Amino acid sequence: MSDPHAAEKPKLSVLGLGHVGLPTALGFVELGFEVTGCDDDTSKVAMIRAGQTPFYEPGLDALLKRALASGRLTVTESVEQAVRTGTVLFVCVGTPQKENGEADLGQVEAIARTIARNLNGYKLVVEKSTVPAVTAQWISKTMARFAKPSNISGNPAAEFELASNPEFLQEGKALENFFNPDRIIIGVESERGRALLEQVYRPFKCPILFTTVCTAELTKHAANAFLSTKISFINMVAEICEAVGADVTEVAKGMGLDPRIGREFLNAGVGFGGYCFPKDLRAFIHLAHERGLDCGLLCEVDKINRRRVEIIVKKVRRALWVVQGKKLCVLGLAFKGGTDDIRESPALNVITDLLKEGACLQVHDPQAMEACQKEHPAQPGRLEYCSSVDEAARGAEALLILTDWEEYRRLDLKRLKELMESPIIIDGRNLLDPESVRSAGFEYVGMGRDAGAKRRPATAESAAQ
Ligand code: UGA
Repeated sequence: MSDPHAAEKPKLSVLGLGHVGLPTALGFVELGFEVTGCDDDTSKVAMIRAGQTPFYEPGLDALLKRALASGRLTVTESVEQAVRTGTVLFVCVGTPQKENGEADLGQVEAIARTIARNLNGYKLVVEKSTVPAVTAQWISKTMARFAKPSNISGNPAAEFELASNPEFLQEGKALENFFNPDRIIIGVESERGRALLEQVYRPFKCPILFTTVCTAELTKHAANAFLSTKISFINMVAEICEAVGADVTEVAKGMGLDPRIGREFLNAGVGFGGYCFPKDLRAFIHLAHERGLDCGLLCEVDKINRRRVEIIVKKVRRALWVVQGKKLCVLGLAFKGGTDDIRESPALNVITDLLKEGACLQVHDPQAMEACQKEHPAQPGRLEYCSSVDEAARGAEALLILTDWEEYRRLDLKRLKELMESPIIIDGRNLLDPESVRSAGFEYVGMGRDAGAKRRPATAESAAQ
């Protein structure tokens, strides 16, 4: 069936084909748009052209194959080509963190210059990367500086404007989030820009909030800061639960039933990681400090989060007494389940600390082993990468769960008991049911639920043991 709106569809370009850019580019191709995706990493471009996704994301492989077959996707390493082809340019390049916590906008600035130098008609430049409020103003200034008429290759009528359309994709659910967003936030300040983005987002049924560019930028930072705060809040409650003998998973359930609070993002554990929360939180703090504002709340969120790693390492010490020379099974390397991304993964911080204490680690992750091995090569007898949970558990004196992979919820406890040297499970993500683990003959250590379990009135089953 032909698309009645095909003629109105603007041509899109996506600059940067990472965890945000690639799902976005492929998602728009699926919705019938012609998309040029570009990245300066030539090996990544070659892989994508050959139909291979450069990172793990559920559903992305199949979507890439369909996109290539549709003929509506062009992949290039030339930013110039992408700028010249598209009318709406989505900027999805990385915004890493500087030492002082500030966002490093070097890549964004470089893109702004290239866009300016290649203007060949009206362009709507849309920030999708998470950037501090007022970044759009800087992009505009930079572009105005470089887009002199002499740079406009014979087309003095060329013009551009900035918009902000922050992404809310979660790794591991990026496509689900792309096709079924909760909301779309669009910061745009002209009728022309607004009309274009209305066309782009016409297929979506969720609420669309139009606002100013600066407000849209800030909305994204505030959303990530709030979610981080929720996680640190429950992690702080977990510390109190341990001190008084309560179970944080039950506290979270009880709190979450209040619709004003909600159950999501109240899972206590080893803390939040990934490319977004830690760095966005620090960039938000930096933005506030720069303007002389007090953001002690957010500093505390960061502090509580860093403490989670120390807390789990202490639990290992408490369970094993001497860590030096002990063989430990570590399940999970990725910063969360459903991805092979290890950036700012709390699991890696735990591993680093345990290695410093002289532990011998047998690690496993369903997707992140390759990425991890590149950064932390195997050290025979000290850090071994295992292709199965069984292999990682063999001879171990304790098993640690550090990533919330679904498959780790269904561990074969009977088998693990046979394989392990001593039956101790330290569940850094509270994935397992403590009673079932204890009745399988293990010592169970969770996050914010140990004392509670000990003090709970004995059931007939546990009393019989
Ligand atoms: C996050 C946001 O959820 C997205 O909305 C946003 O678009 C994205 O950042 C971004 O800025 O690009 P993501 O980093 O993929 O997405 O991961 P989350 O699912 O939010 O998890 C972040 C971290 O918090 C993970 O380490 C996860 O394990 C941890 N977490 C999450 C908890 O420790 N407890 C929870 O209850 C939930």
